Amino acid sequence: MKAKVIAIANQKGGVGKTTTSVNLSAELTRQGYKTLLIDSDGQCNSTDTCQAIIENQPTLYDLLFGKEDALECIQKTSITDMIASDPLLNDSEHRFPNDAGRLFLLKNNAEKLREHYDYIIIDTPPNLGCMLGNILTYADFVIIPVTCDRYGMMGINELYNTIHSTQQYTNPKLKVLGVLFIKFRNNTILCREFSEKLPNVLNDFNTQLFDSKIRESESCRKAQSNCMSCFEYDSKSTTAADYSQLVQEIINKAKGEQ
Ligand SMILES: Nc1ncnc2c1ncn2[C@@H]1O[C@H](COP(=O)(O)OP(=O)(O)OP(=O)(O)O)[C@@H](O)[C@H]1O
Ligand SMILES: [Mg+2]
Repeated sequence: MKAKVIAIANQKGGVGKTTTSVNLSAELTRQGYKTLLIDSDGQCNSTDTCQAIIENQPTLYDLLFGKEDALECIQKTSITDMIASDPLLNDSEHRFPNDAGRLFLLKNNAEKLREHYDYIIIDTPPNLGCMLGNILTYADFVIIPVTCDRYGMMGINELYNTIHSTQQYTNPKLKVLGVLFIKFRNNTILCREFSEKLPNVLNDFNTQLFDSKIRESESCRKAQSNCMSCFEYDSKSTTAADYSQLVQEIINKAKGEQ
């Protein structure tokens, strides 16, 4: 087994990184793929949704700073295998070494996880700090969730700058798998305009929009409040259908890219 590592990234807050990370991991697991979810955001939202433990349990913090072996940090949850985040990561930027190795901590300490999984999905924090640099250095692919509103696409240039410098300096093989619409509403002019214009904008970045779109739904929010994946909460919901379709698209795209 040699896992494909997929980071779900956008430094903008509240665009669906956590929701996408959890539901992708849930669906890949349901389909029989050995899947590991890594929560790298000190807010610990994926950790909370999966009801993973932080107290007296090695977390990503311990893995990152070499305090614990990567395999010892894995926990089984009802949704997926996962490595929990830790509030200590909120204040960890100064802990990264002050040398060229600062972007390689995760890669060096987590590489062996690839031998045990088909897919490793990483939920990322809403900033462009050293944690994200470590994740992009380790990952094979990035998925960028965006929302259809005036601010949904803002900052995408900065994200691409970060991705391009990662490709240049620390991970030449990194690829953007696609941009994903979240909270999509087919019946609004704004969403229609965005989906018509975005492919051209993305051409400049050599990236495609996923055909799958995640529609806005109350059931999606409720699943999160109840600490469940959308499949556990309501397997007939539009959210479950949308994330299932996305998983097929990801599997096909990732296969073609490697
Ligand atoms: N398809 C959807 N329909 C309705 N609500 C959604 C949908 N996707 C996400 N949400 C809601 O939007 C909010 C933000 O989602 P989420 O926490 O996944 O974003 P995030 O990018 O991880 O945020 P942060 O940057 O703070 O980590 C949550 O309340 C979530 O329930
Ligand atoms: Mg989040």
